[in-house]
Amino acid sequence: MKKAFIFDLDGVIVDTAKYHFLAWQKIAQALHINFTQEHNELLKGVSRVRSLDIILELGNVEASQEDKDKWLIQKNEDYLSYLVDMDESEILPGVFKILQLLKDKNQGIALGSASKNARPILEKTGILSYFDAIVDGNDVSKAKPDPEVFLKAAQLLHIDPKNAIVFEDSVAGIQAANSAEMVSIGIGEKTILHEADYIFNDFTFVDENFIDKLIN
Ligand code: BG6
Ligand code: MG
Repeated sequence: MKKAFIFDLDGVIVDTAKYHFLAWQKIAQALHINFTQEHNELLKGVSRVRSLDIILELGNVEASQEDKDKWLIQKNEDYLSYLVDMDESEILPGVFKILQLLKDKNQGIALGSASKNARPILEKTGILSYFDAIVDGNDVSKAKPDPEVFLKAAQLLHIDPKNAIVFEDSVAGIQAANSAEMVSIGIGEKTILHEADYIFNDFTFVDENFIDKLIN
């Protein structure tokens, strides 16, 4: 049976969470806001605009729209500077194997990401051609935990949401998959992603038997 396998990008396919963190930390430091790795967990899967609002809330800082727009541009420019040398070596362990396995089994493969930088990242890492559909931050109006991004991806693949499987590293993303009534698979820590139907530390723990179980 053909199913839709929908992948989040940041933290699932590539380890960009560290770059998002570094770029946000610079903004936070300039504003004298204490912003830690734990706080960064709150930003995973969350849009750029909402991420800035969360950081400002953490520091009890109120800002004009003009300042916010300036910081959003600064953050993204800084983030992009970390991606300049990005190549396939940044693909997380086991991802290639799973993508190839799904291709060999003629499954639908889509991207469902909040990032507006998704396409250049897929190009730089050389995996763009694996994806039959791409839905990213440029295509949605409602951010995760709203299911819009995943529902659109399934629609583009012409596959019923009930036959879709989502790989996610963020709490917001797992909630989005759950409210779309898709199978949610957390990639990361059990303590954080406990709302997921299945949880794996990384893709090296996802084997062919498990994929076959999902397909049949
Ligand atoms: C998500 C990340 O995938 O994309 C978030 O988990 C990020 O941390 C969001 O803020 C938006 O990304 P971008 O690249 O459009 O700033
Ligand atoms: Mg993510």
